[in-house]
Amino acid sequence: MLIRVPMGWEIPEREATPEPAFWNRRQILQAAGLLAAGTASAFERNPKYTLDRPITEEWAATGYNNYYEFHPTDKQAVKDMVGKFTTSPWKIEVKGLVNKPQTLDLDDLFKTMQFEERLYRFRCVEAWAMAVPWTGFPMADLIRKLDPKPEAKYIRFVTVSRPAEMPGMKLAPWYPWPYYEGLRMDEAMNPMAMFVTGMYGKKLPKQNGAPFRVIVPWKYGYKNPKSIASIEFTAKQPKTFWNDTAATEYGFYSNVNPKKPHPRWSQAHEKMIPTMALRPTQMYNGYGEWVGGMYKGNEF
Ligand code: MTE
Repeated sequence: MLIRVPMGWEIPEREATPEPAFWNRRQILQAAGLLAAGTASAFERNPKYTLDRPITEEWAATGYNNYYEFHPTDKQAVKDMVGKFTTSPWKIEVKGLVNKPQTLDLDDLFKTMQFEERLYRFRCVEAWAMAVPWTGFPMADLIRKLDPKPEAKYIRFVTVSRPAEMPGMKLAPWYPWPYYEGLRMDEAMNPMAMFVTGMYGKKLPKQNGAPFRVIVPWKYGYKNPKSIASIEFTAKQPKTFWNDTAATEYGFYSNVNPKKPHPRWSQAHEKMIPTMALRPTQMYNGYGEWVGGMYKGNEF
């Protein structure tokens, strides 16, 4: 009798990604008012990005967060601290080495962008991990519209600062608020880099970075800033919040790397929320095929 041996690239049945439930998502979007606002009128899942594991349950991905502006230590409390935070209307300042400096209004911007859904793995530097359907558009699509000058070698993001709405800022005043991050221009233009506005077919919850965040899935979670207030194009490598806070622990590049331990723990394995089941960490979080070519391998 012939037994069919699965090939290396075949995903075991139990781990296969569920089929996209397009009509379901459409109904959800309608309920969330997204279709009425003219955004994401017919986004579909981009089939290019598949998972090697089940999608994380929505309650877990939206209930276990790092968002220090709301709570600096309790990940499960963040979702209960966001009540006062207002995310609409929302403006993003575009400045620096760019031919079209401007203030973007998100409602207007969304009418001009082509939205899609992608399934991405997500890996926090603390070792917890998840797999999420994000909605948004390639970062490169917006950067091209903004038209950076040739001298622009980096992109810098600063996230919103509203101490009256963000109780964590007062609980942890020693951090260099507001949160700021950056990418090299080729990283930002890489097709994997996304600006994200939704997850699980709905608007991004406040605790996950509403209304507009960065997702770069080959890097540790802290390179994915939330609730972006400004985008700046720079010639010099921008400083970053976690590098300024603990330079020996958090570098600028921060690509997921199982062989490079954090000074205080191993990165060889990751823990899938909510069960915390262990899986081996993959180089570049498994996205080396798309992004490995940008690096020499020793970036920190
Ligand atoms: N962005 C802001 N503004 N503030 C933060 O504290 N935490 C980062 C990143 N973006 C953070 C942030 C870290 S450490 C991680 S792991 C991810 O957000 C967590 O994203 P999630 O809560 O959607 O899983």
